[in-house]
Amino acid sequence: MSGSIRLDRLLANLGYGSRSEVQELARRGGVLLDGVTTTDASKRISLTPDMSQRLSVDEEPLDPLPGLVLMLHKPLGMTCSHKEAGPLVYDVFPPRWRRREPALSTVGRLDKESSGLLLLTDDGALLHKIISPKQHIAKHYVATLARPLRGDEGALFAAGTLMLEGETRPLAPAALEVLSPLSARVSVTEGRYHQVRRMFAAVGNHVEALHRERVGGLSLPNDLSAGEYRPLTPADIAAIFS
Ligand code: URA
Repeated sequence: MSGSIRLDRLLANLGYGSRSEVQELARRGGVLLDGVTTTDASKRISLTPDMSQRLSVDEEPLDPLPGLVLMLHKPLGMTCSHKEAGPLVYDVFPPRWRRREPALSTVGRLDKESSGLLLLTDDGALLHKIISPKQHIAKHYVATLARPLRGDEGALFAAGTLMLEGETRPLAPAALEVLSPLSARVSVTEGRYHQVRRMFAAVGNHVEALHRERVGGLSLPNDLSAGEYRPLTPADIAAIFS
């Protein structure tokens, strides 16, 4: 995001309140720009990438500007949805982030009972680029299984002929690496509904636990605990496509 914008619009777009609420916030001295209290929120300000160092709201640095890209270590039990009942992945962020415009969305989904690397962005073009089947970005999962592997799963997944129940088009080839009799790493380039769980169901097994460890060349960092998130660096974003 660059150019100039009215301060009240910027703050409202970032979810700090309606235009009149953020005007009131500025009037009572809650907004500082370059160290100076800015009571007139109709003022136009030029946007620079270091906005969160330049602008504070109630003594906290300004939230990241639109163009936000995050990785979340998704915990078990949270749904990737804006409106379903029960705990949602958006609950880990400050509540005002739900009012951001453009909205923050998950890049694809991890199902409620899966954990691991979940990307979120408000950049629609980037989101579509990551999920586009044309990009063939592999998603890497570790699956823990209810029954020992038979031995033929790798060949069946790699064949490009595996048909999931209720579907008419076979899956693209996927890779399987055996980690133990009851666990495997699986890499898929598609994003069909509950794909990995249904792949194991198609070979007579059942996934007990599913964890996504990598998207393209971007791995979930070891120091990011379940429920924690951080912004992606330009190098992280490049790694997704590497
Ligand atoms: N496959 C699944 O079955 N679940 C996920 O969350 C992701 C891939």
